[in-house]
Amino acid sequence: MVNFNFYNPARIIFGKDTEKELPVQIQKFGSKVLLHYGGGSIKKIGLYDKIVKILKDAGIPFVELGGVQPNPRLSLVYEGIQLCKKENVDFILAVGGGSTIDSAKAIAIGVPYDGDVWDFYDNKGEPKEILPVASVLTIPAAGSESSDGSVITNDTLNLKHSVGCELMIPKFTIMNPENTFSLPPYQTACGATDIMAHLMERYFTTVPNVDVSDRLIEATFRSMLYNVPKVLRNPNDYDARAEIMWAGTVAHNNLYQMGRIPDWGSHNIEHELSAIYDIAHGAGLAIVFPAWMKYVYKTDIKRFVQYAVRMFDVDLAFADDEEIALEGIRRLEAFSKSIGMPTRLADIGIGDDRIDEMAKKAVMYGPIGKFKPLYEEDVAAILRLAL
Ligand code: NZQ
Ligand code: ZN
Repeated sequence: MVNFNFYNPARIIFGKDTEKELPVQIQKFGSKVLLHYGGGSIKKIGLYDKIVKILKDAGIPFVELGGVQPNPRLSLVYEGIQLCKKENVDFILAVGGGSTIDSAKAIAIGVPYDGDVWDFYDNKGEPKEILPVASVLTIPAAGSESSDGSVITNDTLNLKHSVGCELMIPKFTIMNPENTFSLPPYQTACGATDIMAHLMERYFTTVPNVDVSDRLIEATFRSMLYNVPKVLRNPNDYDARAEIMWAGTVAHNNLYQMGRIPDWGSHNIEHELSAIYDIAHGAGLAIVFPAWMKYVYKTDIKRFVQYAVRMFDVDLAFADDEEIALEGIRRLEAFSKSIGMPTRLADIGIGDDRIDEMAKKAVMYGPIGKFKPLYEEDVAAILRLAL
């Protein structure tokens, strides 16, 4: 293991009817709230009305800004910053998924900052101040509810960049699995794929002697293999929805990363895809991850053998390491297909015409990925493997 320093102060309030905790939690941090949400799913499921009533009954003043799109846009972030300044908002409550929470985090670092909030996403320094942010999570996926990151799409420049710093960890998150019953199968599968990708980004490390975190990751990954088909068969299966929701948080709150050096190459490549084609992040990962694996497995074939055997029970009677490693990758692809995910760019109508542009943008701040550092030509080769 490499040395580490673990700190994650996000309070997780989990279970049925936990929205009622909102007033007491909010009042610890602020007095006027921005209620931030997406394109309307929270209204359809009655969650919006429920939260508005809770805030009104508790006498907590709020203003609202809806309309966050998947792959959240910088233009709405600017609008949110203006609104918070005008209305003297001192607390942001994001109700939704990763896009809404990431948009809330961007607004929160933008309000106390004199310059352009995009500076932080453009590698020009780290935020020093933030308005407190919390969330009510409605889709287990991005892990933003307890992560230190935010990913924003600059809709003028077609760039999708991230910022990560401790300040951006939400103060608390309400996680009621019932709020995820309404997720359509495709969104459920996209979210699950992202969760599994967060586990794999950490699993593929070159650091030796990381047995505890290896096994935590393996257990959580296998729980996903078991529970995702269950919720696809029965969307109202509370227990399976709960398992997936909790998996989404532990997969990305950095606990499983301690002592290891994670990769993140596939995520960086996926962000180039969703920046240009506006696809769901999870769908992009279902395509990029196997291609990345095929490109890098020889870097440390034993790790890929361990992955194949422990995640997918690949039979050790197979003749050689390479065959076991490749069978592990095939089983990942088969699982993705079984839950309705694409596994090739062609499946979502993307050709090779912008591969060079994506490869160039992916490495604009230097090589990506730690398992095997990737340069422009490597990224292009991986995207070609994904065609
Ligand atoms: O906008 P609404 O109407 O709410 O609909 C959303 C959206 O269309 C819908 N949805 C959410 N909860 C629902 C629901 N529909 C029915 N019932 C519900 N209960 O789902 C769609 C997707 O929502 P979104 O927030 O975009 O999903 P997700 O949580 O997957 O977030 C994806 C974003 O997070 C970023 C991704 O790049 C992407 O931009 N990521 C953020 C990370 C972080 N901050 O740590 C890490 C991740 O790796 C990821 O990059
Ligand atoms: Zn992700």
